[in-house]
Amino acid sequence: MVSIIITSGPTRQYLDPVRYLTNASSGRMGRALAVAAIEFGYRVTVITGPVSLNYPDNCQVVPVVTTQQMLAATQAAFETADGLIGAAAPCDYMPSFVSEQKINKTGDSLHLELLETPDIVATIGNNKKSHQWVVGFALETDDRRFRTIVKMQKKCCDLMVSNAPSAIDSEQNTIEIMDKTGQVIQTASGDKREVARSILQQIRQKLIEKNPYSAE
Ligand code: C5P
Repeated sequence: MVSIIITSGPTRQYLDPVRYLTNASSGRMGRALAVAAIEFGYRVTVITGPVSLNYPDNCQVVPVVTTQQMLAATQAAFETADGLIGAAAPCDYMPSFVSEQKINKTGDSLHLELLETPDIVATIGNNKKSHQWVVGFALETDDRRFRTIVKMQKKCCDLMVSNAPSAIDSEQNTIEIMDKTGQVIQTASGDKREVARSILQQIRQKLIEKNPYSAE
C-alpha cells in the first residue's frame, strides 16, 4: 500500500515556559489532504503541530510542538514511506536563548535574537531515495511562479503547490500545481477538501502511477 506522510499545522518556538513564536496556520489543508489520501486508498501519517481540529480516525497522527520535533518525526516516518506532502507552516525562527523561567518585565525593551529553524521539506527532499517523492507548498505574495520554481529546486521537490496568504486559517484555497519543468499542470479553487482532491489526483498521476516501486 502506498504510504504518505503529511506535515500539517503550525509549530511553536518557545521564548520561556509560557511565551512562543508561531503563525496562524489552522491545519485545515493538511487535514483535507489526509482525508483525500485516505479516500484514494493510501496509508497516511500526519505529523502535526498544535491545532484545534481532528484528523481522520483512520490515519496515524504524530503530535509535535517545535520545528525540530516535526523534522525528527518526519525523518523517522519517511524512512519507510513513499512520499511526503509538506503542508505544515513550521515556525521559521527560534530564539537563540530559551529562558527556563518566565521572563519578567523590567520596563525596558526586550531584544530577541532569532535563529533559523531547520527546513523540513528541504532536508527530506535533499536526502530522499530515488523511488521517493516530495511535494512542497509555497506561499508567496508576489512573483508567485518564479519564487515557487526557485523553492522547488532548492528543496528538491517533485511538485510544488503555490497558494496565496489568504489560504492561512481559511476554509478555501486557490492553488496552482507546478512540476519540475516550471509548467503549471493544474489549477484549483474552492473548499480545501476539493482542492486537496485535485492535488492528490496529480500526485497519483505524476508521482505514484509512474513509480514502479509503489505498490498500490
Ligand atoms: O520557504 P517556505 O516556508 O515558503 O516553504 C514552504 C514549504 O516548505 C512548505 O511545504 C512548508 O511545509 C515547508 N517548510 C518546512 N520547514 C520549514 C519551513 C517550511 O518544511 N522550516
